[in-house]
Amino acid sequence: MTDPSDDRLELSADEMRALGRQVVDLLVDHFTSLQGQPVGRRAARADLEPMLGGPVPEDPSDPGAVIAPLKEQLFANMLHVDHPRFFAFVPGPNNFVSVMGEALAAGFNVFTGTWFAGSGPAQIELTVIDWLRQICGLPNGAGGLFVSGGSMANLTGLAVGRQEKLGDDVADAVAYIGDQCHSSVARALRVLGIKPENIRAVGSDADFRLSMDSLKSALAEDRAAGRRPFCVVANAGTTNTGAVDPLPQIAEFCRSENLWFHIDGAYGAPAILAEKGKALLGGLELADSLSLDPHKWLFQSFEAGCVLVRDRAALLRTFQVMPEYLRDTEGVSDEINFGNYGVQLTRSFRALKLWLSLRVFGLASFRNAIARGIEIAEVAQRELERTDGWEIVTPARLAVVTFRFAPPSLSESEVDFLQGGMVEAMLKDGYALATSTVLAGRPALRLCTINPRTTDEEIVETVRWMTEIGNRLATS
Ligand SMILES: Cc1ncc(COP(=O)(O)O)c(C=O)c1O
Repeated sequence: MTDPSDDRLELSADEMRALGRQVVDLLVDHFTSLQGQPVGRRAARADLEPMLGGPVPEDPSDPGAVIAPLKEQLFANMLHVDHPRFFAFVPGPNNFVSVMGEALAAGFNVFTGTWFAGSGPAQIELTVIDWLRQICGLPNGAGGLFVSGGSMANLTGLAVGRQEKLGDDVADAVAYIGDQCHSSVARALRVLGIKPENIRAVGSDADFRLSMDSLKSALAEDRAAGRRPFCVVANAGTTNTGAVDPLPQIAEFCRSENLWFHIDGAYGAPAILAEKGKALLGGLELADSLSLDPHKWLFQSFEAGCVLVRDRAALLRTFQVMPEYLRDTEGVSDEINFGNYGVQLTRSFRALKLWLSLRVFGLASFRNAIARGIEIAEVAQRELERTDGWEIVTPARLAVVTFRFAPPSLSESEVDFLQGGMVEAMLKDGYALATSTVLAGRPALRLCTINPRTTDEEIVETVRWMTEIGNRLATS
């Protein structure tokens, strides 16, 4: 160990290499052994505090000794969202190249706020943003930036919409968001100063897609009352059921009513790379702003969100502020200062991991991985349909299938109660994990199958295992 009196916070070259090897070994063990492990566990505070709490350490320790117990004490006490049998919420099936990209970005401590400080990194970010623009079909002239995730992407896109449609006056502004929108959309609108009573949760049709009739009548009512409608938020894949809103019709409506059209594609937009997804996602290219979340279905480590805006200059009009201490960073006009395109000035280099992953695996592998996710949900649906006790609530679409365990011996309210109980029981057992949601007022279980490493055998076994849990709880 380096001399503890050394206040330069340095390790020797050998110590750095030893620490790096230890970390890489830990990661490679994780990636290669995950399939044989439980999906993880949720520990109690009382168990964690003795291991992971304690006073501020005044004295140095050997780095290897600090890291060694973390596998059991820290990383075992979490849910492995990258596990091939983790079907809860939206999984995070990242890839190892992305992890190494994250390490490089952190190691070189890349600053991506200005071209002056990070011209190479800004060029990589421009390149990846343009790849995503092409994939989603937005025109030349569209731009965007990397942000922390889908929530920040929604906030950023809607901030641009607010600026473009309302200027600085948000009085009586109304936004239409669809009752299946992710919670981050309403939160973003709140942050942007839109009153909660002016955030319209427009109803959905029987397929959980935003209803055009409800949208039209809500807008007519607001116009008649003298309010100021300014945007519609649609989903390219809802978190609940994978539903895609009628994007072309909403785009047309927004154009004729002079409304900003934001699409939340944080979950589903990458499915455009697969044939079945492309068939569902027509109209994605019509967005004024579009949220993507590469840390979901583009297999990146957290955090990697992205927002695309049809008119790149609108980002500047919304966010650009030039203080005197950054005057040296004002370059020629093609030198992009990403710090002027969003909320963050100091920004990590999120584009690198996706750039590296795409370079190493190639887009064709991403297409296949996404197509596989869509297929796994279809396999799950077939298996549920042929097993007694299950009813399908929404069929497999964009790698989400929802269903209920409803044995005929139970009343409706007992069935409702059973779904939540099953999630607890699954977590306790740990073989796999599905979580629940509420659809049309009734609890349902949900599998989200975007991990391309899940096998058909694992899906079949997961359904068998869930059936066993359901039957056990139903008769206890
Ligand atoms: C449709 C949708 N939008 C937005 C978000 C929020 O994204 P993040 O958690 O990356 O902020 C999610 C997260 O699951 C989502 O599914």
